[in-house]
Amino acid sequence: MHSQSDLPLPGFEHIEAPYWYAHGGDLEPEAYGLQVARRLEERILQLGADNVAAFIGEPVQGAGGVLVPPAGYWQEIERICRHYDVLLIADEVICGFGRTGCWWGSERFGFRPDIVTAAKGLSSGYLPIAAMLVGRRVGDAVIEAGEEWTHGFTYSGHPVAAAVALENLRIIAAEGLHERASGPLGDYFARALATLADHPLVGEVRTCGLLAAVELVEDRAARRHFAPERRVGLACRDHCIAEGLVMRAVRDVMVLSPPLIISEAEIDQIVLRAARALDRTAADLDL
Ligand SMILES: Cc1ncc(COP(=O)(O)O)c(C=O)c1O
Repeated sequence: MHSQSDLPLPGFEHIEAPYWYAHGGDLEPEAYGLQVARRLEERILQLGADNVAAFIGEPVQGAGGVLVPPAGYWQEIERICRHYDVLLIADEVICGFGRTGCWWGSERFGFRPDIVTAAKGLSSGYLPIAAMLVGRRVGDAVIEAGEEWTHGFTYSGHPVAAAVALENLRIIAAEGLHERASGPLGDYFARALATLADHPLVGEVRTCGLLAAVELVEDRAARRHFAPERRVGLACRDHCIAEGLVMRAVRDVMVLSPPLIISEAEIDQIVLRAARALDRTAADLDL
């Protein structure tokens, strides 16, 4: 993505994602989580706190491979942001509206962002709509500036999309769909997916609400990944599609994000088809 778009842009710094399985080594997940969170503090100090406007992250990094942060990671990030007066932005485009079992992923992980970005679940994808939500502190600053807010898109505030989003949110609340992923259904999903962890190709299965990752590795004991040019994830994705299952490949991490209305019987079907696709991928590799 970066090479196609002349990225990264100046003015944006990145720190390591809390990806324990790949980078945690011998550390316990919580200790590793604290270690990577503190990279934020180190970077702020390097850059000078007055030069850092905000930190942005997804509660669970979705398109990065469903990286579920260890307990305590977000609390430490929040502490650092508050200490250095850096705004905390939660990108809730994937995690928002029930994906992790609460309205917001930040709620699930127990931190309070200053700004939230949201999209997909806002209309359950039925019509295109996205939003940026700001708390009082940011909102008041914008209002007190006494200027017109000049940021916008051609379709900003489109009344049809807004009406669909409002109705979608009404249905989610009325049917309690936002809580399904943290209730018995979410537990069932986690248990069902966990059965795939015994497959010889699988290094780790991660779930958070109705988000899941099945990470494919060459050597489970050593947590060693396949060489990227072998494109094992893409081969597995094609086998999944042949099995009638849409499971995206992020590198060699197979990711799932099923609808909040999924049933236990449909979860069984996902696991059955994923297991068959894993067998077919392993057979390609002569495992
Ligand atoms: C976490 C996350 N943030 C942002 C985006 C981009 O959102 P938009 O297309 O609304 O700009 C995506 C798109 O997939 C996403 O998954």
